[in-house]
Amino acid sequence: MTTLIIGSERASTFAQGVRDADPSFNIRTWPDVPDPKAIRYALAWGPPPGELAKLPNLQLIVSVGAGVDHLLKDPSLPGVPVVRFVDEDLTGRMVSYVAANVLYHHRRMIELREKQAARTWEYLAEPAAHELTVGIMGLGVLGQACAKALGPLGYKLAGWTRGPKEVANVKCFAGSAGLDAFLGETDILVVLLPLTPDTRGIITRKLLSKLHRPAILPGPVLINAGRGGLQSEDGIIASLDAGELYAASLDVFSTEPLPASHAVWAHKRILLTPHIAAESDPRAIARYLVAQVGRSKRGEPLPNLVDRARGY
Ligand code: NAP
Ligand code: GLV
Repeated sequence: MTTLIIGSERASTFAQGVRDADPSFNIRTWPDVPDPKAIRYALAWGPPPGELAKLPNLQLIVSVGAGVDHLLKDPSLPGVPVVRFVDEDLTGRMVSYVAANVLYHHRRMIELREKQAARTWEYLAEPAAHELTVGIMGLGVLGQACAKALGPLGYKLAGWTRGPKEVANVKCFAGSAGLDAFLGETDILVVLLPLTPDTRGIITRKLLSKLHRPAILPGPVLINAGRGGLQSEDGIIASLDAGELYAASLDVFSTEPLPASHAVWAHKRILLTPHIAAESDPRAIARYLVAQVGRSKRGEPLPNLVDRARGY
């Protein structure tokens, strides 16, 4: 029974991690697949479409990431169970990315950097944390962990989900019926949605125009650490240039790597990071793969199973 590691630039690091975690594992890294029939399990990140369909005895696909859009976009993806990566280390990284960016914009650091460049000593008014609502689109594993971390910093919290939800200290809204009310209370919008047919392209200039305008900050803020396909980058730039949005932190983009010619790179009100909000740690991935394969072999239920019909 062999496991194939496919699609990730870090395949050899993952392979070493798996050997360290369980030396009995047979590992292949794509495209070194001399016997496709021997492959029972796959650890995958953005595999070339059609490649997993060439494995007739595949029993389980483990996603290197928390998101699975990189797998489900393959129309020939075999109909075997897909589990996504849910892990304390990854969650902690996302929490620190979101908290850092909420605080950065709340404290107007993007403008203070501009003042520093101009050698200008100037006080900028700031709201108290309790005067701001952080609204989180997607209150799943990551969104809820971020809410839990932001609460003690004093922010009011709102959240938007597909189905109705109750989360302590978070004012919850659901579905298209709840979206405008959610936006109307949100000063700092944190996007932690999966990319699905329902969420693709959801972050538009029109949507951003519905955000609440905070009393003291120059305008509302967008932080997207979900997926680039959720957003229109042109819409975000238009919204910033029109003063409808104050600032944005973008970790993910419609095209990755972001082309050097893209206007986002040079925009003064955008803090850009290259999809690093929450990397998957290779040792944690290796342990997770070994545990999920063990459950699959024993016929046990698989945690973090993806619902293909929902797309996440
Ligand atoms: P999750 O536990 O599956 O949670 C997804 C949340 O999104 C749920 O609350 C779900 O609502 C909500 N949702 C899904 N479709 C929706 C819709 N059509 N309308 C409203 N809400 C919707 O996922 P997670 O583990 O928190 O991860 C979220 C995403 O973060 C991943 O899919 C991935 O794209 C992204 N991510 C990015 C990085 C990075 O480094 N930038 C790292 C890890 C993950 P329900 O609660 O009603 O189901
Ligand atoms: C990273 O983007 C992930 O989905 O884990």
